[in-house]
Amino acid sequence: VIVNHMQPFSLKLSLHNGVLAPCNNHIRRRLSDMASMYADQEAVQELLQHDDPVLYEVYQYDVPEEPGQLLVGTSVIHPGKVGSEYVMTKGHYHAQRDTAEVYLGLLGRGHLMLQAPEGDFRSIPFERGTVGYIPPYWAHRMVNTGNEDLIFYVVYPANAGHDYEAIARRGFRFLLVDRGGVPTLIANPRYGQHV
Ligand SMILES: [Fe+2]
Repeated sequence: VIVNHMQPFSLKLSLHNGVLAPCNNHIRRRLSDMASMYADQEAVQELLQHDDPVLYEVYQYDVPEEPGQLLVGTSVIHPGKVGSEYVMTKGHYHAQRDTAEVYLGLLGRGHLMLQAPEGDFRSIPFERGTVGYIPPYWAHRMVNTGNEDLIFYVVYPANAGHDYEAIARRGFRFLLVDRGGVPTLIANPRYGQHV
């Protein structure tokens, strides 16, 4: 008995700008959407006085959020810094913690930061051709340390969901900052102290 009547489909992914077409879920994250996540709050306020820049965009093709389905999409992180900290995604755990994810680097350069609930931390250099495997239970955040868009393709279980709150409250243990042009991990002075 055939119970799944969903039809096969194909999408076009631009390898130049990451745009996925068709796309039924285009998300734009602005600085004001994650202002509290950057370490240098003076730099945040200074930037917001002039502009509220789009920091990154997600193109996703939504399918039913049920077990067995996969969500595919691309993320485009624009280059830049907030103070000395590189532009990054909000970062999240999956709401359904026991779900994994795969990232494939297409353009640009950055770091995939991963953190386990007990605080175990990894930072994986990312570039075109890098395949990153995010195991179940690990929070993940991508950081653009280059001078151009960082574009990567993602696949994850459609029932995974997103938990941004845990990261918004506690942050990651380390920040990626520019030290004389070199991306450098430093301890996050506010780790575990976010309000
Ligand atoms: Fe994810």
